[in-house]
Amino acid sequence: MEIIVAKDYQDMSEAAADIIAELVSEKPGCVLGLATGSTPEGLYAELVKRYEEEGLDFSRVATFNLDEYRGLSHDHEQSYHYFMQKHLFDHVNVRPENTHVPNGANPDAEAACDAYEASIALSGGVDLQLLGLGHNGHIGFNEPADEFTKETNCVDLTESTIQANSRLFNSADEVPRQAYTMGIGTIMAAKQILLVVSGEDKAQIVRDVFFGPVTPKVPASILQFHPNAIAVVDEAAFSACE
Ligand code: F6R
Repeated sequence: MEIIVAKDYQDMSEAAADIIAELVSEKPGCVLGLATGSTPEGLYAELVKRYEEEGLDFSRVATFNLDEYRGLSHDHEQSYHYFMQKHLFDHVNVRPENTHVPNGANPDAEAACDAYEASIALSGGVDLQLLGLGHNGHIGFNEPADEFTKETNCVDLTESTIQANSRLFNSADEVPRQAYTMGIGTIMAAKQILLVVSGEDKAQIVRDVFFGPVTPKVPASILQFHPNAIAVVDEAAFSACE
């Protein structure tokens, strides 16, 4: 894994946006795998800026988000679909029919997950998968487990993830208990991985992910085996590695 240490959050956002913008310029019909959460917000703001100021063209880009809460419809304010509209899709010229997020409103988990895998395959596969990192090493909603997940699947969220995500809801009780997420196999099938991490609170897990053993107990550790993975990490998040 190539590691780029950025000065701070803004620097990390710009460096990650550079990598995505370069791909979009070189391959206008590329397939981007996207993530939600606080970490990529600055990077999405950078991409919007580049669209507005430099005409970065998303008209042929297709996107597939990592995950979605089970039980939330696309227009629910805490849904990941809504997040993507708010932070990126509403502000660039990506075509709505080219954007994909697992269908949290479909109560049939197997059908929702199978349809999502099929649609990724139909697109030709993800060129670049953007990832954030959970405090317990999760990527997407793939929580620490005894084995790595394979395809898009329905997961029970851990208590720590529910607590971490409750900041965006009125209370922890409102956080859905399940989600549909790309599996570790789906993520590893992307041609390139771009992991973004910021903040001292992630320093210990960054060290485990980059330099610890590869284990499903730390799901992101599998990225050590990806042939084309780049991590852009700010100094605070990298501080336990020096
Ligand atoms: C989001 C996702 C999660 C987050 C992770 C980090 O789509 O899949 O794995 O990337 O929970 O979240 P933040 O960036 O809020 O710390």
